[in-house]
Amino acid sequence: MSFTRRQVLTGLAGLGVLGLAGGGARYWLARPAATTTHDYELIAAPLDVELVPGHQTRAWAYGGQAPGLELRARQGERLRVRFINRLEVPSTIHWHGIRLPLAMDGVPYVSQLPVLPGEYFDYDFVVPDAGSFWYHPHTASGEQLGRGLVGPLIVEEREPSGFRHERTLSLKSWHVDEQGAFGDFSVPREAARGGTAGRLSTVNGAHAPTLELPAGQVVRLRLLNLDNTLTYRLNLPQAEARIYALDGNPVAPQPLGQEYWLGPGMRIELALRVPEAGTELALRNGPLRLATLKSVASQEPAGDWPPALPANPVAEPDLVGAETQRFNFEWTGAVSVNLAQGAAHSFWQINGQAWDIADKRCAERPIATLKQGHSYILELRNLSQYQHPIHLHGMSFKVLDSNRRAITPYFTDTYLLGKQETARVALVADNPGTWMFHCHVIDHMETGLMAAIAVV
Ligand code: C2O
Ligand code: CU
Ligand code: CU
Repeated sequence: MSFTRRQVLTGLAGLGVLGLAGGGARYWLARPAATTTHDYELIAAPLDVELVPGHQTRAWAYGGQAPGLELRARQGERLRVRFINRLEVPSTIHWHGIRLPLAMDGVPYVSQLPVLPGEYFDYDFVVPDAGSFWYHPHTASGEQLGRGLVGPLIVEEREPSGFRHERTLSLKSWHVDEQGAFGDFSVPREAARGGTAGRLSTVNGAHAPTLELPAGQVVRLRLLNLDNTLTYRLNLPQAEARIYALDGNPVAPQPLGQEYWLGPGMRIELALRVPEAGTELALRNGPLRLATLKSVASQEPAGDWPPALPANPVAEPDLVGAETQRFNFEWTGAVSVNLAQGAAHSFWQINGQAWDIADKRCAERPIATLKQGHSYILELRNLSQYQHPIHLHGMSFKVLDSNRRAITPYFTDTYLLGKQETARVALVADNPGTWMFHCHVIDHMETGLMAAIAVV
């Protein structure tokens, strides 16, 4: 594929560009009343944030926030984002979980050229599915996501969902020390194991915040794992909470239960019945408190559980006619390899192939080629002792079964494949293009655990 690089900003005059140092994102065209487009101007720029009290951290922000500005659109409508790169490094935006045309997918040299400092790129696509999604670069991901370039993208249902209240909770840990200074985003000996974890956990950019919720109401909580590495073992002791959607797709409402493992890139939507005023609930990762949910008095009449959310228009795979493709995820190689200058470590492979992030041409050698319109079962086999949140771009897939747990089939874009687990997922290859297929533990992805799947 060839690309042209036309979109270069000339000075600050053009297009009412606002806010050099972090600036705000704003609608960049007047928004007519009956619009069906959602227009944003989104600037990526360095921003000082106070993650550790009394210390400044030089983060990288979208729309003057890290995690980035929450973008919103409505199902079936058009989202247009002018992405303006005011960083000192090339970048792109990938729209995690959104089924869109390849040219909008944000993968450098596959979808588009990297957006250089001072350039902009117009993303413009229809959002077919309602749910909680997110956006992030696909360039130097360890550092760029690590410094804060992650943000929520909420697609509202076509019709009111029945929830009157909702909150988005972006979960992210930061690779900072006690003074708020960044350390390594990826350490080889960690990349070769579970991934390099950040030290400081945050919700919406604050460590262990208190969030106020209206007593007596049923609130939709959108929990997004925007972390490079961590699988959150989410629990909400003593809470009355039900699961309404997983990774942007509705499920039959069901109790949250003891704990839900939310891997990197994954999302869960809960309905929480907020207890009487003054009550505090702990949202936790295992035994660690992520946030305090505090109920405050509300004048509104008490709310009730809304009905299930309407299904998204994802094609149902034909399991009888489906062809099976097998993918083995394995650990390879020693940590002590001597690397040439600039070369990337390689610890992981899919079917014996390691992705090389320094090689722009990897995507020309897809690991599988699917025929457009046909159904496929992908058998995902984890031969390692570490879990991998396996993510596919461009298409949603249905999780069918696993040799390790009982599965009620559901659609997703990311499946947390446990150690030594084999799971089967199915899809209709209905989106032509070359789609990244990778582990969302960022340093696994950057040390080999990525491939391209072609749909032709
Ligand atoms: Cu969040 Cu390549 O994905
Ligand atoms: Cu993605
Ligand atoms: Cu992994």
